[in-house]
Amino acid sequence: MDYLSRARELSKLLTEYQRAYYVTGRAIVSDMEYDRLFDELLLLEKEHPEIRTPDSPTQRVGSDLSSDFPEVRHSIPVLSLDKAYSDSEILAWIRKTMKNTEQELSFVLEEKLDGFSIVLYYEKGVLSRAVTRGNGSVGNDVTANVKTIYAVPLRLTEPVDIAVRGEVFLKKSEFERINATLMEPYANPRNLAAGTIRRNKSSETAQVPLSIYVYEGFWSESQGFTDHIQILSRLKALGFAVDPHLSFFCRTQEEAKRRLEEASLEGRAGSFDDIPAAIVDYTKARADLPYEIDGLVVKVNELSTRDELGYTEHHPRWAIAYKFEAPQAQTQIMDIDVQVGRTGRITPMARIRETQLSGSTIRNITLHNQDYVNELELAIGDTVAISKRGDVIPAVESVIEKNDLGNTTWKMPKTCPVCKAELVVRGAHHFCPNHDCPAQVKGRLSFFCAKGQMDIEGLGPKTIETLYENGFVRSIGELYSFDFNRLKALEGFGGSEGKKIESMKMAIEQSRKTPFRSVLVSLGIPEFGRKAVDLVCDAGYDDMDKLLDLADRHDTEALSAIHGIGEVTANLIIDGLNSEEIRILVEDLRKAGLRMQDEKDEGPVLEQIFKGQSWCVTGSFENFNPRSKAMDEIKRRGGTEVSGVSRKTSCLLAGSGAGSKMEKAREFGVRIVTEEEFLRMIGSSEAKEEDKAEEQPGLF
Ligand code: IVH
Repeated sequence: MDYLSRARELSKLLTEYQRAYYVTGRAIVSDMEYDRLFDELLLLEKEHPEIRTPDSPTQRVGSDLSSDFPEVRHSIPVLSLDKAYSDSEILAWIRKTMKNTEQELSFVLEEKLDGFSIVLYYEKGVLSRAVTRGNGSVGNDVTANVKTIYAVPLRLTEPVDIAVRGEVFLKKSEFERINATLMEPYANPRNLAAGTIRRNKSSETAQVPLSIYVYEGFWSESQGFTDHIQILSRLKALGFAVDPHLSFFCRTQEEAKRRLEEASLEGRAGSFDDIPAAIVDYTKARADLPYEIDGLVVKVNELSTRDELGYTEHHPRWAIAYKFEAPQAQTQIMDIDVQVGRTGRITPMARIRETQLSGSTIRNITLHNQDYVNELELAIGDTVAISKRGDVIPAVESVIEKNDLGNTTWKMPKTCPVCKAELVVRGAHHFCPNHDCPAQVKGRLSFFCAKGQMDIEGLGPKTIETLYENGFVRSIGELYSFDFNRLKALEGFGGSEGKKIESMKMAIEQSRKTPFRSVLVSLGIPEFGRKAVDLVCDAGYDDMDKLLDLADRHDTEALSAIHGIGEVTANLIIDGLNSEEIRILVEDLRKAGLRMQDEKDEGPVLEQIFKGQSWCVTGSFENFNPRSKAMDEIKRRGGTEVSGVSRKTSCLLAGSGAGSKMEKAREFGVRIVTEEEFLRMIGSSEAKEEDKAEEQPGLF
C-alpha cells in the first residue's frame, strides 16, 4: 500500500476511534493500539506534509504557531435566549405559548450548559470554521483551537453544508485537576474553558480536555425536517455529541416515548403534566452532573410554530431559558430609612451605591421588615450581593463584607418618622397606629386614584402631595367636593397649565361612573383586592348594602363559604367593612354619587325568589351546561353561592352524578332540589315576570 492510501486508512480509523471515545463515550480500541496508529500517521504527515488534510485526526494536538483570531461574519444570526428565574415563570410561558398557537405543540427541555458558545461551520462535511458568538453578527475565528476538541467532528458522515451551534465545556473533575496546577486559578470551569479557547497556541488549548454538546443545526438546503428532535437526531447521526439528558414532552407519555425512540435520542419522555416534576428533578440532579449547567432551556419542538413565533432582535420567541440563579451584583448599603405605607406598615428601604444590574440602574432596595434585616445581619456600610429575582425586584442576597464603621445590625426606629406616633408590632411588621398620619392619608389617596382602582388620570402621588400639603384635600371624600379651580393660584397649575386643572376635573367627574367592583377595591380593605372582590360579587354579594349587612351580622361564614375565600380573608374583609373609617368613606362616596351596586347586563331584574338563600350546586345538568349557568339563574333571583353543604345551606341543587354533597345535605336536613323542580321554580318566577309585564304594558 502506498503512503497516501495508508495515511487515508489511518485517518479513517483514528477518526472513528476518536468519535467512539469522545462522542459516544465508549472506547473501541486499546490506548496502546490507538497511540501506535496515531504516531504512524504523524510520521507519514511529517515526511509528506502535502498529504495532511484539514480534517486529519492529528490536528487535534494543535500547533505552536500563534494565531490572532480574525473577526468573521456569521452566516446565521447567533441569538441569545430570553430568561426566566422561576419554574412558575417557565410553566406560565409554556401555557401561554400553547394557548397562542393553533397547532398541537410538543416541547424539548435541554440542559443549559454553562460553557462557551461556539458556531461550527462545515462545508461539504468538513469543518471549515469555528467562530465565537461575538456580538451575534461578528465573532472570532478560533478554528485551530476548536479542532483540538475531540468531540468536534472534523469531517461529518455526510458532505453537507451546515452551521451548528453548541457549547464548549470542561468537566468539573478536569477543572479541579487542572486548576490545582495553575498559578492563577480560574473561578469556575466556564472561565477556564473560555480562556482555553482563546489561547494563542492551539497546542496549549490541546492540553485541556474540553468537550462540546451541540443543540441547534442550520442546513444550507432544506432537509424537510418538521421538528427539533429530528434535527438533534440528524446532528447525532452526522457525528456530533448531543446532550443525553434532554426531555421531550407531548400530549401523552407513550407518544413522547415513541417519538424520542424514533429519533434515536436518549432522554426522558413525558406528558405535559410531567413538566413541573421534570424541572424539579433537573434542579436536584444538577449537583451530581459531571459538568456545570446554569439552567434549563425549553424549546418549542415544531419548526412550523417556531417560524410562526419568530424572533426578537435578541432571542427566539419559541424558546426560553430557566436560569437557576438570578443575576447578581455587588454594592454597598449607604443608608437605611423607612417608608410608611397607606396601611401604616413600615418598610425599611436600603439606599445603595448606584449599581447596574440586568440592564437597569438600582438605587433603592426593599428590606421588607426587621426579621429580614436580622436574618441578613445587615448594617449600614456593609458590602452586599444583590440580585434581581424573577428579573424584576431587586433583593439583598447576602453580606459579602461587614462595614468597618462599627455599625451593628440595623434596628427599626421606635416612632413613626412622619407623625412620631409610637410604632406597634403586628406579626412580622411594624405599623404606625395613627390613621391620620400624613403618610398614610397620602398613601390612601394615591392608592384610591391609581390604575387598577379608580384610575383617575392626573392625580398621581406628586399631585396628591401638593393637594395634601396645601391643605386642599385631606380625605378621599374631599376629592369629590374640592374646587379644583383653587389650584390656579399654585405654581405649575395656573396659566397655560390651566388645561391640567380642566383635565383633572374631567377625570374626577368620569370617575363617578367607575364600575362598582373597582370602587370596592379602591376602599383599600386588606385582602379585598380585585380577585376577592370578583369572587364575592360573583357569589351574589354584589351591592354595597348587601355587604354592609353581612358585616353588621359578622357573617364571616357566608364569605368563607365562597370557593377561593379562606377564613382569614373573610375575617379581614368583614373587619374592614366594619371599621369606622371605611363606613365614613363609603358614605362619602355614596354622597359623591359613586356606584354602589354591581352593574347588571343580564336583562330584566327578576323576582328575587331566592333572596337570603344560600345555594350549593353539584352534579351535571341537561339544561345548564356548564353548571355555573344554574348558579347564574340563582344569583339573578337574589340567591348566593356556597361551594360546600353546611347546616346553614338553604338548598342543594343536585344534578346527575351528585356524590358526597347529597349525603351531607341529607345528614344536615338541607333541602335537595332536582333539575326538574328547579326548572319549575325559575320557570314560575319567569312566568310571573311576564305576567307583570302584561299587567303593566309600556313598562319595558
Ligand atoms: S439555544 C436560537 N440551547 O445559552 C438558539 N442555548 O443565553 C439559542 N446555551 O448563547 C440558543 N445550552 O451559549 C441553547 N441547550 C441549549 C444551550 C444554550 C447553553 C447557551 C448558548 C446561548 C446562551 C443563551
